[in-house]
Amino acid sequence: MATIYPADHPTLAGAPYAMQEYYANCHANGSLTLILLPISRHAQNILHHPAHSASLSVSSDPPDAARARVALMGDVTLLPDAAATDVKACYLAEHPDAVEWLPGDDDGAHVAYWARFDPHMVYFVGGFGDEHFIGYIPLPLYQASGSSTLGTPSSGQQTVLL
Ligand SMILES: *[C@@H]1O[C@H](CO)[C@@H](O)[C@H](O)[C@H]1NC(C)=O
Repeated sequence: MATIYPADHPTLAGAPYAMQEYYANCHANGSLTLILLPISRHAQNILHHPAHSASLSVSSDPPDAARARVALMGDVTLLPDAAATDVKACYLAEHPDAVEWLPGDDDGAHVAYWARFDPHMVYFVGGFGDEHFIGYIPLPLYQASGSSTLGTPSSGQQTVLL
């Protein structure tokens, strides 16, 4: 995930910040489920940004210049705990360790909030430009595509859930 430091930050105002972040694929339209911890730099940057902007990248593992990766640019909406009953089981299936910091848990390790990341722009780098598509993907196409299978040059197919 990448976010932007707020304008009133003493040393990094307006600077980008990138750090690994958990997300889960719990919506049919490719919006992603997050747990925001106000203790985290990402959560602070998102909550202070006027549009709650963030970007998430998904790539092959290990990273490979010949393989597909995608950047999602969008915004984050906080969800009431009651609205998250459907995504809780899905999130925990992808991140069982998050049971320690679930929103609404008075005994949890941190204050936490359910949130949804809605992509607005999708930039796809399929690999090398002479062989693969590189460019923006129309949002309706992304939202209707479900999970995708990315071709890999050496080891068959890798399924990446967006
Ligand atoms: C995606 O679907 C969720 C429901 O699963 C909905 O709340 C959200 O608004 C949708 N996002 C967009 C960008 O349409």
